[in-house]
Amino acid sequence: MTRKLTTAVAAVGVTALMFSTAACNSSRDGGSESSSGASGAAAKFDKSSLIGISMPTKSLERWNRDGAHLQDKLKSLGYTKTSLQYADNKTDQQSSQIQNMINQGAKIVVIAAIDGTALTPVLQTAATKGVKVIAYDRLINGSKNVDYYATFDNYKVGQLQGNFIKDKIGTNKVNLEPFAGSPDDNNAKFFFSGAWDVLSPLVKSGQITVPSGKAPKNNDDWKSIGIQGWTSDAAQTEMQNRLNSFYTGGKKVNVVLSPNDSLALGIAQALAAAGYKAGADYPVLTGQDADLANVKNIQAGKQSMTVWKDTRALGDQVAKMVDQIASGGKVDVNDEKTYDNGTKVVPTYLLAPVVVTKDDIKTKLVDSGFYKASELGM
Ligand code: GAL
Repeated sequence: MTRKLTTAVAAVGVTALMFSTAACNSSRDGGSESSSGASGAAAKFDKSSLIGISMPTKSLERWNRDGAHLQDKLKSLGYTKTSLQYADNKTDQQSSQIQNMINQGAKIVVIAAIDGTALTPVLQTAATKGVKVIAYDRLINGSKNVDYYATFDNYKVGQLQGNFIKDKIGTNKVNLEPFAGSPDDNNAKFFFSGAWDVLSPLVKSGQITVPSGKAPKNNDDWKSIGIQGWTSDAAQTEMQNRLNSFYTGGKKVNVVLSPNDSLALGIAQALAAAGYKAGADYPVLTGQDADLANVKNIQAGKQSMTVWKDTRALGDQVAKMVDQIASGGKVDVNDEKTYDNGTKVVPTYLLAPVVVTKDDIKTKLVDSGFYKASELGM
């Protein structure tokens, strides 16, 4: 998969690039230009201007943290006029909220898209009004009117999950059930690809068996195991169905690839209902986002790991991008190769995701201030 190769190169490149961020002004003619490019500095505007923040939903824990932190960080930089909206995972609602931000005079809109391809019309309106667009965490596809993208390295998230599983199983033959994220979420493709590039050779060799038969033929087939809207309930139902249908007569599941914590929560509930208990025989279960309930499950031995993306760091980086755009200066990016959105390669700032297991909850999540010890009964 050329994306894989590109990403593999980018993954290596990103490590090197992390320490030497490029800077650029995004142009909308299909490419990004260096800050010394012909486009010159972006439009300047003052800090009393409105900044729009469009988040997908409040029903998934991480977006509440993202929205609140970004709003606080912008305020600390002097951007006191912000409009933070949540769209209940409804694409029409997100489009109209963004339209309202533009109507209210927003100079920049930061968007964590529900389905980026549904935003093309409103992004055209943004472009005609000179409103800059920053894609937040999720790439917005199908429109050239996306100026920048900031996210954690999504392919790396999957690689961390895949390699965690590979390390855990060693040379043992195992039964594995794979899950993927919401089919309308561009990130889910990267998460799955990163993990499946590690695990599919083990499926081919016969070390990993997928008793449900739900092993995507290739990375592009990831939507066949996608869970719409990332809901815990849908993941729980899917896991229950697989356990009831394919794990009879004493057969046990040994590994579950879950791309994030909301799915892992539902999967853990299905495992508990089927009699799986924390301990040596409990399946390896992955996750992402370090959601509070899942970190508690990791402490209780009901989830093996989560990939932590410190949303404060992402918010800080995006607030910095806003400030750089507003001042008409260079905008820091460190990846101008990976994120092709179908109309252009969007200049991107990638942050590094981190594996958290039971052993390093304190050093990573508590000592960093992401959670208080009291929140985790520590
Ligand atoms: C993804 C995001 C992940 C995951 C999921 C559900 O796009 O990057 O952190 O949690 O959405 O919010």
